[in-house]
Amino acid sequence: YQTAFVRPPKLTPKSVTYDPDGSRVNHYEIAMRHAQAQILPGKKTGILGYNGTFPGPTIELDQGTKAVVHMRNRLPKNHLQWSHHLLATSTHLHGSASLPQYDGYASDVTPPGFCKDYHYPNFQPARTLWYHDHGVHFTAQNVYSGLAAMYIMHDPVEKDLLPQGEFDVPLVVSDAMFAADGSLAYDDRDHSGLWGDVILVNGKPWPVMKVQPRVYRFRVLNASISRSYKFALNTGHPLHLVGTDGGLMPVRQSVANWRQGMAERYEVLIDFSKYKPGTRVELKNLSNANNRDYASTGKVMAFDVVAPAPDMKSDPKWNVIPTTLADNEVMRLTKDDAEDKRRFRVQRGGVTEPWTINGVTWEDVIASGFTLASADPKLGSAEIWEIENKSGGWFHPVHIHLIDFQILSRNGKAPYPWERGPKDVVYIGENEKVDVIMRFGPHQGRYMVHCHNLPHEDHSMMFQFRVGLGED
Ligand code: C2O
Ligand code: CU
Repeated sequence: YQTAFVRPPKLTPKSVTYDPDGSRVNHYEIAMRHAQAQILPGKKTGILGYNGTFPGPTIELDQGTKAVVHMRNRLPKNHLQWSHHLLATSTHLHGSASLPQYDGYASDVTPPGFCKDYHYPNFQPARTLWYHDHGVHFTAQNVYSGLAAMYIMHDPVEKDLLPQGEFDVPLVVSDAMFAADGSLAYDDRDHSGLWGDVILVNGKPWPVMKVQPRVYRFRVLNASISRSYKFALNTGHPLHLVGTDGGLMPVRQSVANWRQGMAERYEVLIDFSKYKPGTRVELKNLSNANNRDYASTGKVMAFDVVAPAPDMKSDPKWNVIPTTLADNEVMRLTKDDAEDKRRFRVQRGGVTEPWTINGVTWEDVIASGFTLASADPKLGSAEIWEIENKSGGWFHPVHIHLIDFQILSRNGKAPYPWERGPKDVVYIGENEKVDVIMRFGPHQGRYMVHCHNLPHEDHSMMFQFRVGLGED
């Protein structure tokens, strides 16, 4: 733990306009470009970044404020290091109920030299989102190279309950491997994944953050392309989970550790008031199934507790760990609300075999001229999807675009405590079977479902569903 903790830069709107209905619209500009980043001491690392940083700049706004992001692709024509693929991009705001044309559809790519405006509605409950590249077949390399950033939406409920500002801290956690000259190395020979030996938090290796003896809120995003984590404190003290992918949980859950797959977001409160100034608290990564671990990957970051600021106690949330949080529509759904139940089997692939879901790949979707859909839910209907992973040796974090879901059961039992909130990614471990329930809407159109182990997604564990467009 040697580097100083930093927060990702924040993006300020270039202009603000108002729609005829009075709603505010923030206009942002982002250019994706190649840049040199300072990651390892004394070395430069070439990255691809939103505005040239890794992670990219955080967009932070209030529910009800719409956003238009003018996204320019100023990347070099080809990825020079690993595969010479054309750096055509598609930007996905993960966690947003965006219209299909703004959802980062993998095959809807913007080549270098071109740009696209993305419109985001921001009507959902407060949550931690992230935007990342989704370009077809090269999402893993593009995200790993740096095209990932946080996006935070606030609402009055969340502002009232949880720490804000300086005490509301984004943690973008990823892993990487580096060549001797400091450049990023990419090693995924059989498309099963890439596990780096360096853990980065907000783009810095194993950083140290100074904290006051009070309650902090951390928004933890696993932006790794293949690594899952099991987070715990070295002190053994509990971590208080208050939010999941889709925002606040109904009830806070206190745990000794939690498992977090790729693309999942968890919001957690840590109470540093139990420690005297001068104490160092470590955030560890306990070993988790189906990863490649190194001695150095058991550590994530450290917190050095410093003397309290004189006005610390004037913040009403300095020592509050709320119990009841927010009522949430998707968490009120029950089995009986479902009109349909569908079953999906995720199946491992390999060097030549694709990774599939019910035998379907994104290649099949492309070959069909994008008409092939694996599910046709009606607009506004609730369904249960059972997702099963029997193929052995791997876990698959499955992400469903557009909607939030509730995890009804995991292997026939209650979901883990940390999963008891609105979700859009579900960890399907080896030999696990999970039921999720969701209501499809508010938009019609085609949306993707895929494994968020990005090499799996690229090879080609992804399909699409159509909302409100089915024949029946
Ligand atoms: Cu985070 Cu389809 O992606
Ligand atoms: Cu997978």
